[in-house]
Amino acid sequence: MYYSDDLIEEVRAANDVVDVISSYVKLTKKGSSYFGLCPFHNEKSPSFSVSPGKQMYYCFGCGEGGNTISFIMKYENYTFQEAVKYLADRAGIRLPEVEATPEEKRKAGIKSVILDINKEAALYFYKLLKSGKGQRGYEYLKARGLSDDTIKAFGLGYSSNYKDDLYRYMRGRGYDDNILKETGLFTFSERGVFDKFSNRVMFPIMDVNSRVIGFGGRVMGEGEPKYLNSPETLVFDKGKNLYGMNIARMSKKGSILICEGYMDVISLHQAGFDNAVASLGTALTSRQASLIKRYSNNVYLTYDSDGAGVKAALRAIPIFKEAGCTLKVINMKPYKDPDEFIKNKGAEAYEERIEKARNSFLYEIDRMKENTDMDSPDAKASFYIDVARKLLSFSDELERNVYIDTVSREFFIPKEALEQSVRQQALTYKGEDSLKRQADYDNKKREKKTPEEKINDGIKTSQRLLLTWLIEDPELYEKIKGIVGADDFEDEIYHKAAGMIIEQLENGEKPTPAKVVNLFTDEEEHKVVASLFNTQLAESLKGAEKEKAVTDTVRKVKDYSLTKAIKAATDGREMQRLMMEHSALKTLFIHLY
Ligand code: UTP
Ligand code: MN
Repeated sequence: MYYSDDLIEEVRAANDVVDVISSYVKLTKKGSSYFGLCPFHNEKSPSFSVSPGKQMYYCFGCGEGGNTISFIMKYENYTFQEAVKYLADRAGIRLPEVEATPEEKRKAGIKSVILDINKEAALYFYKLLKSGKGQRGYEYLKARGLSDDTIKAFGLGYSSNYKDDLYRYMRGRGYDDNILKETGLFTFSERGVFDKFSNRVMFPIMDVNSRVIGFGGRVMGEGEPKYLNSPETLVFDKGKNLYGMNIARMSKKGSILICEGYMDVISLHQAGFDNAVASLGTALTSRQASLIKRYSNNVYLTYDSDGAGVKAALRAIPIFKEAGCTLKVINMKPYKDPDEFIKNKGAEAYEERIEKARNSFLYEIDRMKENTDMDSPDAKASFYIDVARKLLSFSDELERNVYIDTVSREFFIPKEALEQSVRQQALTYKGEDSLKRQADYDNKKREKKTPEEKINDGIKTSQRLLLTWLIEDPELYEKIKGIVGADDFEDEIYHKAAGMIIEQLENGEKPTPAKVVNLFTDEEEHKVVASLFNTQLAESLKGAEKEKAVTDTVRKVKDYSLTKAIKAATDGREMQRLMMEHSALKTLFIHLY
């Protein structure tokens, strides 16, 4: 159900933004704001700001921003409604509890309905597995060594071999085709609607909050594809989630084990390694790395021992390094994967493998060496140069020296020679590197934007600047009242936000940017609104400089909207009035003092 605007605002206001965020991010006071390391992108110096005055947060690095509700949505991966519920509980505010009908559910946002349907489907699959109809599935899982407790903990299930079993069930529950289409659980075709998964054992995929966001389904025995997965939907973003993270986040192990498959995660958990997760059949993403880093800095890769597993590990290493995690690689040989290792050798032997895990940097060098013919002097020399270059990736000198020491010992390279080579590489390679970075940056700047888009960007910057000023200095409104209004803001989000700010100023209230955010329920919209009130330039200007900047900005915003209005005008008189207003802009000056 929908909560009323007043109730939402009450919940927001009862949860101080600094209070809420500081339980997730370490914040330090700097002037009137607090700063910390942004939890939404990887960074080494803090550009994430939280303003108690505005009751908003904004990251100058990645542009994430919003109010307390947006923060909880983003961080906990909640829908708007769920975030409000969470914060209401936190502040001890009671929300009306209503049993929703399917129709109400539809209105409450497609996302939460998809989540409901997924949950019902998971339960349905589970019950089927446990009934006579799912016996084959149950026996398959038993034969793979899973206990009833494990099956329950992961909510494993079975999809019927009738081609539209789940579809008929969901229709019976009152869900219509429009919403069922959004779940990825069905195939709609001219011949009818069919279940996507049939006659497979089912693995519900959950996000960190144990909400079912998708499914994997395995054939029992041989067959293609071995695993069928849900497509991406409004609630299923593969690069953002990890299988098993909902349990692993609670683990006391103090580290995270990353494997490739569903069964690896499940076997590891059953053997007591409740910190295992898997990256959902795709290459590991930096968003997954930052998700992991929220819970632990200590990461172990426990990928398959085959060539594909080695490749996947080599690709994952720089991603974790970038995220700032300590990474080690576990060797599964002679077994294929953790599932088979555990089955053959047991938990204790696996524990020993964890202890013997290879430092990821040395693992990379091991692989480089494997591909080198050490009997060929040329190949050997080029291997040494590569090692020296690789050592340069440690920007911290102390750390680099520790590695030079270790590498020279482990790979029998005389230490002085290695040090010398690293120094030499620093001279040539570093220069190349910084040139390359400059070129990348230039290319990015020259992104293919049309002139029109560029002008539009410029106008939006001016509009944001104006809104930021209005928030920080409500007295400014008296000076520009009658000149600029909400209609000068063309973009829908800008228009709504400006409208509310101006309304508050008209009523003599201090504008509350955080309340403006509540006008929107989408995370992306929150981000845009936050950027409206956090234009950096706005805070630094003073005196005559500011007067000139305000005047220029108002002129720009007005010029743009009047020019548009003139072009669109059909009435002669109206056009004349607009043109006069437009030419008056030339002499407009806003005196602030
Ligand atoms: P593997 O082929 O290594 O399978 O794929 P596995 O995990 O050992 O599975 P079992 O033990 O045979 O049951 C690793 C992971 O890659 C994804 C799945 O997430 C799987 O767990 N995968 C694999 C797919 O999504 N589709 C496929 O067809 C195969
Ligand atoms: Mn396996």
